[in-house]
Amino acid sequence: MPTTKKPDRRGGKITPKSNTIKLKFDTSWSYAPAPESKSAATIKPQYDLFINGEWVKPASNKYFDTINPANEEKISQVSEANTADVDKAVKAARNAYEKVWKKISPKERAKYVFRIARMIQERARELAIIESLDGGKPIRESRDFDVPTAANHFFYYAGWADKLEYAFPNRNTEPLGVAGQIIPWNFPLLMAAWKIAPALATGNTVVLKPAETTPLTALKLAEIIQESGLPNGVVNIVTGAGATGAAIVNHPDINKIAFTGSTDVGKIIQRAIAGTHKKVTLELGGKAANIIFEDAPLDQAVEGVINGIYFNQGHVCCAGSRLYVQESVAKQVIRKLRDRIESLIVGDPLDKNTDIGAINSRQQLETIHKYLKIGKEEGAEMYQSSCSLPGKGFWCRPTIFTNVAQSARIAQEEIFGPVLAILTFRTDDEVIEKANNSPYGLSAGVWTDKGSKIFNMTKRMRAGVIWANTFNKFDPSSPFGGYKESGFGREGGLHGLSAYVSLTN
Ligand code: NAI
Ligand code: MG
Repeated sequence: MPTTKKPDRRGGKITPKSNTIKLKFDTSWSYAPAPESKSAATIKPQYDLFINGEWVKPASNKYFDTINPANEEKISQVSEANTADVDKAVKAARNAYEKVWKKISPKERAKYVFRIARMIQERARELAIIESLDGGKPIRESRDFDVPTAANHFFYYAGWADKLEYAFPNRNTEPLGVAGQIIPWNFPLLMAAWKIAPALATGNTVVLKPAETTPLTALKLAEIIQESGLPNGVVNIVTGAGATGAAIVNHPDINKIAFTGSTDVGKIIQRAIAGTHKKVTLELGGKAANIIFEDAPLDQAVEGVINGIYFNQGHVCCAGSRLYVQESVAKQVIRKLRDRIESLIVGDPLDKNTDIGAINSRQQLETIHKYLKIGKEEGAEMYQSSCSLPGKGFWCRPTIFTNVAQSARIAQEEIFGPVLAILTFRTDDEVIEKANNSPYGLSAGVWTDKGSKIFNMTKRMRAGVIWANTFNKFDPSSPFGGYKESGFGREGGLHGLSAYVSLTN
């Protein structure tokens, strides 16, 4: 039996005798590196477009680099699809829809979707490594959250494919046709799964575009889809930036647009499709209020707040970026949060000890820095962890702002980084008014010991998802989506199916 003191997860030390945790935030103390091996991932130096079941060169013959944001090194280059490429992909999807996919029996559809889920599981390690390399998120998250949750979405919707009469009792359902899907860089594989799985299960075909900074796991998914034997053209994956996305949105033969990303682009899309036959779901930004009442289990709440805002570097639309603490416990909570961020490990995304990885892109880092400056100018007090940051790549220390006014831009606007704005309140009515005073309404959190308070709060708060005594929990069976400028339509669960069918009786 070793008698030496063992480290605990937070960099403190466990005294063997009493087994109590004594936290000593000694910055010289650290874990030995535990990097995941890159060799388990096969990445080609160049990727073409995945159209009609084949890899095809882009019409323009143009390619662009995707880099590792943790060291700014090039990982691979991917195609820049133009209008002609998008047209080719839409034609392939239309042809597959008319000739194969809408005619195939629902039971057969289910088998394919199920097979894709199994193949994601089989290649989970490789997908997790590529996700962390391409996007900067800690391997612990891509391994334990992104990839398994992506597989779960395919499993879940495979289950519905041949049971649509139970999903929509006494109604006839028909697929919409060709779905154009545009996804962001914060959960690249998971967002692809969220969008592709319900579309396939309901009999639609797909043209999907991943974000320009994180295209690689979607291209790996294309390999999986090819190997799964899914009929050609049912899923097409095209890479490119905003112009490629716009070509999908504006293509006349697309029946449905599903978009996750910024509110600005969401508005452009809405304007572009106004007056057309296209259906749309938009999942946009957020500025979630996480509310701690004085009777909450404070240590648990602090962990939830940390998870809520620093998870995935705060690149989460439902991140708990506004913390409302009841005045009587505010001092205590702020002290605990400051201690806790000091122990978060910032660094190599491939290291299994890392809590906070790299910011996804230089552009996003600039946005975050802009808001740090705004916060200080607005008179808020900034506190950052004292951790050192790697020399290359895009990094931001976990940050807390206190003394934040309700009207401050850092309390109103989406920062999409590891930055928490802390505000205080006295009464239930006051905090509900403050929490709802936002252009967004995607998610929220409530921490209290009283069940009745939870019900009272959740009833009065305008947010699509409200977590009680927990935060950032997801399940394929529960719908996700927002109010106001956070978008409309729901993804996940039974609701996620209805976005891909028309009810004909
Ligand atoms: P973005 O909205 O520009 O990018 C999301 C996707 O839309 C990407 O695939 C992009 O190529 C595509 N796109 C860009 N312009 C388009 C257009 N005109 N038509 C069709 N598709 C288009 O987001 P960006 O610039 O990367 O991030 C800006 C801010 O957006 C972030 O700081 C964050 O606040 C928010 N955001 C929210 C996300 C969410 O999950 N709701 C995800 C990503 C960003
Ligand atoms: Mg990248």
